[in-house]
Amino acid sequence: MARTLLVTGGAGFIGSCFVLQARERGERVINLDKLTYAGNPDNLASLAQDPDHILVQGDIGNAELVNWLLRQYRPDAVVNFAAESHVDRSILDPEAFVRTNVLGTSTLLRVVKNWWQNLDEPAKSSFRFLHVSTDEVYGALKPGDPAFCETTPYSPNSPYSASKAASDHLVRAFHETYGLPTLITNCSNNYGPRQFPEKLIPLTIINARNNRSIPVYGTGSNIRDWLHVEDHCAAIALVLEKGRVGESYNIGGHSARTNLEVVQSICEILQQEEPSPTMYADLILFVTDRPGHDFRYAIDCSKIERELGWKPAHTFATGLVDTVLWYLANDAWVENVCSGAYLDWVDRNYGHRG
Ligand code: NAD
Ligand code: TYD
Repeated sequence: MARTLLVTGGAGFIGSCFVLQARERGERVINLDKLTYAGNPDNLASLAQDPDHILVQGDIGNAELVNWLLRQYRPDAVVNFAAESHVDRSILDPEAFVRTNVLGTSTLLRVVKNWWQNLDEPAKSSFRFLHVSTDEVYGALKPGDPAFCETTPYSPNSPYSASKAASDHLVRAFHETYGLPTLITNCSNNYGPRQFPEKLIPLTIINARNNRSIPVYGTGSNIRDWLHVEDHCAAIALVLEKGRVGESYNIGGHSARTNLEVVQSICEILQQEEPSPTMYADLILFVTDRPGHDFRYAIDCSKIERELGWKPAHTFATGLVDTVLWYLANDAWVENVCSGAYLDWVDRNYGHRG
């Protein structure tokens, strides 16, 4: 029988990509998603008639519901994407991040652990709990610092990264204390189709196309490493299949760029694809910096490359072109997400930045 996965947060940007790939592999997916502003069933429109994708609207912090799903569907693994994921929102409302990322993950772990403890062999030893995390838990690097590796001490700076760090610690503790077969992945910034336009790359594409200013925080010199979402999801599948229990794996794209370089590249691609009489790059506006803005992230992903043979399929250059083309070709998706609630966010986050 095909493997069954309980995927949480599978209607979001990365989770939906993972669900689509899992269905291509023939795995049955139970998708538990609260459908917050970031969860979008349109991301899974191609699975609307698929009996092996079951979307359940609910919270990872709802113990009764999680317990029922485990008993009903008996998953071979849980893959936890569910989270509040945007740093700027965490600055304006940290508690929402504690609720889902810390308390929600804690409840999910407890309920899964109680269910897992009563499984018979071989299901018990082959079961996996994979927790999807971020490189932001490691904190910020200075210009010449070595890249983050799996043993770099955690030093989170934003409420978002602090809440993700806390959830990683809980996952680790459930392995050490109860023997739950856990895996953790820590990935750099993702980009690709279906990313909510609060994040830098889709925000830039959509603002530029609408002749609106492109807000760059500070001087645009902060550095991020970028990985295509499909490569991230392929890495997660590989860790799930072959990763050593109790371990964490860094995932990265070998594509470090300043924010200004990223924004300028998008403007160049747009100029090529949809030439504008005024240059898109003229829309770049340097605005008040994000408080506590991490200067640089860089990730050493040699462990997953060496141990599991993973390597990304996309380069940043081609992946970025493909991403811009996806947004140009999907006006209906863009219009749907850029609705009332999104406009409120734009006002809250950018209204005071000038
Ligand atoms: P996203 O915000 O697009 O999606 C999050 C999903 O989780 C949404 O569908 C939302 O409805 C759901 N959700 C939120 N709270 C929930 C709850 N309490 N119960 C059930 N579902 C809930 O985020 P994303 O960018 O797809 O990120 C997914 C995961 O990957 C997160 O854990 C994030 O920390 C991690 N991550 C993201 C990146 C990135 O660059 N986006 C990089 C590394 C790691
Ligand atoms: P973001 O996409 O929010 O991801 P993260 O904060 O998780 O890295 O931001 C990526 C980088 O882009 C980050 O350094 C902040 C910067 N940024 C801007 O300059 N302007 C913006 O409007 C946004 C949303 C982000």
